[in-house]
Amino acid sequence: MTAIDLPGKVVAALASVLPGKCGLHEPEFAGHEWDYVKDCLDTGWVSSVGAYVDRFEAMLAERVGVHAIATVNGTAALQVALTVAGVKAGDEVVVPALTFVGTANAVSHCGAFPHFADVEALTLGLDPVALDRWLADIGRRQGGELVNRLTGRPIRAVVCVHVFGHPVQLDQLAEVCARYGLVLIEDAAESLGSYYKGRHTGGCARLGVLSFNGNKIITTGGGGAILSSDPELAAAAKRLTTTAKRPHRWEFFHDEVAFNYRLPNLNAALGCAQLEQLDGFVERKRALAAQYRQAFAGMAGVSFFTERDFAKSNYWLCAIVLDNANRDLRDGVLEATNDSGFMTRPVWMPLHTLPMYQSMPRADLSCAEDMADRIVNLPSSPRLASADRGEV
Ligand SMILES: Cc1ncc(COP(=O)(O)O)c(C=O)c1O
Repeated sequence: MTAIDLPGKVVAALASVLPGKCGLHEPEFAGHEWDYVKDCLDTGWVSSVGAYVDRFEAMLAERVGVHAIATVNGTAALQVALTVAGVKAGDEVVVPALTFVGTANAVSHCGAFPHFADVEALTLGLDPVALDRWLADIGRRQGGELVNRLTGRPIRAVVCVHVFGHPVQLDQLAEVCARYGLVLIEDAAESLGSYYKGRHTGGCARLGVLSFNGNKIITTGGGGAILSSDPELAAAAKRLTTTAKRPHRWEFFHDEVAFNYRLPNLNAALGCAQLEQLDGFVERKRALAAQYRQAFAGMAGVSFFTERDFAKSNYWLCAIVLDNANRDLRDGVLEATNDSGFMTRPVWMPLHTLPMYQSMPRADLSCAEDMADRIVNLPSSPRLASADRGEV
């Protein structure tokens, strides 16, 4: 493979799989969306109370197998999950350097400090071995807490992210967190419909969160959810997201400063209709991934990113990874594919390189930095897979 023809070969591979010009990830409204949203408008139940919010939460709870609280977006969900986990202003929370900025912003919204850790190339999620080594290196036990001896601040929690829908090594991360007395929270914003060893992501740790932004596998326009197997944490999350109002027919009694983060009924109506179609979306996205894998199988210089054997991924965003020797061709691939009408994107800039996070504590982040230069996301909408294409 020469430097000149790799972008052209990637374009040819995309053209062999895709029906034509397409965006990165487009929502699809082929179910009961119009009926349910119209019902909200007809009845006037459009805001933060209504039957669709309760129904959406019940459907999510059934799917994931834990309690679910619907919120205005995934970032707010993570902020509240961190809060009920005990994260306070001045604490540090370990997050991967390679994730959407919302993961770290939620930590900052708590008045806490994101502490960046490295990812591993095989899952793109937090590397449990590197995390263990780093915590052993910088952590010291003090009054029952793990304190970062470099900053003097307590490290309270770890947020792992199932990047592009691919589950991280949850058992290993849970073991490391348990050993250091840290709470593990799953940022499952991208992994609704993905499973780790048969368990739904977001429901494996005591706390998890989802996002239903317009680019996710199902959307409520904007929205999110907090997930917890612990009824007390779930109740605390519900109170914090609903202005801590004591239930009463007419009294406005609120017993603490809390948030107005509840998902409106109008959005939840969309969510119910979308969730009814989740299995079909996952199936078609996995079929699309199988097509891509085949198209890139014989191509030197690049590989299609594939789930691990312990995982069943929703393949929310499909991705190719350029070989090390071709890392300088990433922008050429982005340019050629976008010029041909196939919307592709690089992965996020590692968060420790963003201005507001440059001074935050961090481990060695060489894998995150390396992968950020080599990943290209491919068009991934479910509609791009046709029924007669191969199954995974
Ligand atoms: C990994 C990750 N975390 C958090 C979020 C934040 O979710 P939201 O955009 O709904 O606030 C997103 C997506 O948008 C995400 O991809």
